[in-house]
Amino acid sequence: MSSDSATLELLAKRRSIKAVDMGSAPLSAEQIDTILRAGLRVPDHGKLAPWRFVVFAGEGRGRFGQVLEAAYAKTFPDAAPSSYAFERGRFERAGAVIAVISAPRLHPKIPVWEQQLSAGAVCQNMLIAGTALGLACQWLTEWYAFDADVQAALGLGDGEQIAGFLYFGSRLQEPDERDRPDFDAVVSWYGRE
Ligand SMILES: Cc1cc2nc3c(=O)[nH]c(=O)nc-3n(C[C@H](O)[C@H](O)[C@H](O)COP(=O)(O)O)c2cc1C
Repeated sequence: MSSDSATLELLAKRRSIKAVDMGSAPLSAEQIDTILRAGLRVPDHGKLAPWRFVVFAGEGRGRFGQVLEAAYAKTFPDAAPSSYAFERGRFERAGAVIAVISAPRLHPKIPVWEQQLSAGAVCQNMLIAGTALGLACQWLTEWYAFDADVQAALGLGDGEQIAGFLYFGSRLQEPDERDRPDFDAVVSWYGRE
């Protein structure tokens, strides 16, 4: 197969666009389907599919905002009304949000760690698909990925964790470059002087 310069360019330049900076125009059903199918197509040792996805689009975003608001109010009962309103509208900043839930199981040959890594690969594949669709994308966990009430609302079982909430929205601006790690600090060549 010949090299695919468009993919290489996307990978070389990919940047997140913050949820706060994206537009909330709805994604089409086809766009959401494309992103979900890209997520399914990750390396997965043992073909265990150790992850599941929850899509928040349309009214689902606001409905889940009520869960976020209630969980936030439990932890911060005396917060300002504007904070509650922010939590209620958190997902409505995006066109769609996808929760990727890592759902590893005990297996005689495949370590849980490898299954969790596969969930990370799902998140990145979805971000790349979203970027290729011309969308603004960001991978967030924030406080609510770790909140017991939010986890219960998503039906998390034993050993399940939220790998990320992936935000997808309209691209209102082009992102600036950000500092990247020093190449030589993280790359070494085994056996090279
Ligand atoms: C697992 C995971 C969780 C993250 N959670 C947050 C978060 O809660 N808040 C945040 O500002 N950035 C978070 N980030 C970072 C952003 O997704 C993003 O990588 C960063 O804003 C910009 O980097 P990029 O343009 O290279 O993607 C998280 C990244 C990962 C991998």
